[in-house]
Amino acid sequence: MDKKFKRTTVTAALPYANGPVHIGHLAGVYVPADIYVRYLRLKGRDVIFVGGSDEHGVPVTIRARKEGITVQEVVDRYHYLIKDSFEKFGISFDVYSRTTSDTHHKLASDFFRKLYDEGKFVEQVTEQFYDEATGHFLTDRNIRGECPRCHAPEAYGDQCEKCGATLSPEELINPYNAETGNPLVKRETKHWYLPLDKDQQWLEQWILQEHKEWRSNVYGQCKSWLDGGLRPRAVTRDLDWGIPVPVEGADGKVLYVWFDAPIGYISNTKELCDSNPALGSWETWWKDPETRLVHFIGKDNIVFHCIVFPAMLKAHGDYILPDNVPSNEFLNLEGNKISTSKNYAVWLNEYLVELPNRQDELRYVLTANAPETKDNDFTWADFQARCNNELVAVYGNFVNRALQLTQKYYAGVVPACGALTDYDRETLAEFDGVKEKLEQLLEGFKFREAQKEAMNLARIGNKYIADCEPWKVIKTDPERVKTIIYISLQLTANLAIAFEPFLPFSSQRLREMLAMESFSWEQLGQTNLLAMGKQLATPSLLFSKIEDDIIAAQIQKLEDTIKANEEAAYKAAPVKEDVSFEDFEKLDIRVGLVKACEKIKKSKKLLKFTLDDGSGQDRTILSGIAQWYEPEQLVGKRVLFIANFEPRKMMGEESQGMILSAVNYNGDLSVTTTLGDVKPGSQVG
Ligand code: MF3
Ligand code: ZN
Repeated sequence: MDKKFKRTTVTAALPYANGPVHIGHLAGVYVPADIYVRYLRLKGRDVIFVGGSDEHGVPVTIRARKEGITVQEVVDRYHYLIKDSFEKFGISFDVYSRTTSDTHHKLASDFFRKLYDEGKFVEQVTEQFYDEATGHFLTDRNIRGECPRCHAPEAYGDQCEKCGATLSPEELINPYNAETGNPLVKRETKHWYLPLDKDQQWLEQWILQEHKEWRSNVYGQCKSWLDGGLRPRAVTRDLDWGIPVPVEGADGKVLYVWFDAPIGYISNTKELCDSNPALGSWETWWKDPETRLVHFIGKDNIVFHCIVFPAMLKAHGDYILPDNVPSNEFLNLEGNKISTSKNYAVWLNEYLVELPNRQDELRYVLTANAPETKDNDFTWADFQARCNNELVAVYGNFVNRALQLTQKYYAGVVPACGALTDYDRETLAEFDGVKEKLEQLLEGFKFREAQKEAMNLARIGNKYIADCEPWKVIKTDPERVKTIIYISLQLTANLAIAFEPFLPFSSQRLREMLAMESFSWEQLGQTNLLAMGKQLATPSLLFSKIEDDIIAAQIQKLEDTIKANEEAAYKAAPVKEDVSFEDFEKLDIRVGLVKACEKIKKSKKLLKFTLDDGSGQDRTILSGIAQWYEPEQLVGKRVLFIANFEPRKMMGEESQGMILSAVNYNGDLSVTTTLGDVKPGSQVG
């Protein structure tokens, strides 16, 4: 780390308390932040790790209305659930508070007031949509109306989901309140804006010139915002949930959630320091130029942390600016977007119940697949493979062999090291440079590569013990085995340190088995961490295999969610244009009895039906329903078919008509039949 800094303030984005946290949150923000902080602590640096829940904004109010409870109940429920999940996953926050705290309300309010008093805002009156019946101004997402492009009746104020057009509420035809259905009127309202246009110049200098080392995704997003030219941004809203705007005549207005939430980092630091005198004043962590500020966030937060919040801090005047903003891209799940509103996610609170005591496994896989530079995909198959082939078969296996053999041959006492062979020296040499290598990667926020490096050490150890075969050598050269085990144990102790930031739970268990009371990052690479004659504790397995049925159940759960969402989203298609009776009568729909039904060789889709159509002659019809039926199921059934449908040739066979099927919401076909026992050839009408 740069010499000019004495301490580090690490923040992790405050999650909205509108639902539980899921693997996307963990992979994108909290695991990387935690790895970084644990590493700094191990190095003996001064660091605080600040988190908390973001309890204002529209999302929590939507959740409250959905569940029919108060907003306070929503944020209480999810704040504690989220806090608990983080704790159980070992996310080692020094403080995890909330933006509804008194400390925060006061600090955010004072922050706004200082900027207001110093004339840092511009006031602007605009016309916004207003529901006279409820007395509310509406956010874009809560406004619906007819789409000006495709005339779908229920487009949103920001987008039409039918035709995909990006909209603004003004464009909607007959806008109405999405929740109440009430028509809307335009009404004037005053808001305060942060004139970001005035910050353009210094932001360009600060980011584009002075922070070229930021991750390319972060730098790139900033550059495109800056290139587009910054515009003033409103920092207040007409809402009844949030921090009241501390200005006379601002009744019914609150601070915009993106104004108050990042100040939450500061408020939570204050809470932490106020109750921990050893940390000194909170101000040191936010105002001293020798403090390094690092924000861990997801990619949808970049503009707020790199442009808006720094502009706020600068306008205030007393604060330091972030030195780095390591942002990840998104994690997908089995090829689909993770979605809180669609309940499509692996929720941490559920994982903890369904895969108990496997937090390190998830941490490991999420880091191994971290979306550091591009979106990435989590699959359960990959989770299982990495757990079984890497954690169990490499790291766990090596440690277990070393410890079990120590028990077996030496009653758990570290043996003496004899003369080293060339192979011993080569193996130990691999551990030499590891400390520097890991440091470079961790300080460059390359956690995925860093963890790979740690796993590589385990691979070296695993190979060493497998190559040396102490279980064989013990019969011929017991002295040699002492050296092999001694070296293996030293490697094991190194792994306990190297993995601590990544896999804190198994690392701690390993240290207990090795009876390592104190340890530090500086010991990494040393090969005398466990003294000869030291008594080790009873070993147990570090990791256990993940069985197929656990994985299958998780995959099934996601598929069920997709199905439930599709069903919920299904709306019957609009009715087609009217037809006259004469037109209807042109269709000759009849009942046919299926005499035979078979697959067609070259086709995955088609089934070949032989129908008794009442004419005394068999009728052949091909139908594209092979995906949904086994042919035998249909024999003996009465089906409906169009008898005068033009004959067509398919796959070298002539089809004489069409069998009628219903198309389900998801495209599945279901053959139609009659309820009564109707003679073949009977007409339908
Ligand atoms: N709640 C926001 C989100 O989940 C993040 C807020 S970060 C903070 O996207 F800086 F505003 F706190
Ligand atoms: Zn449309």
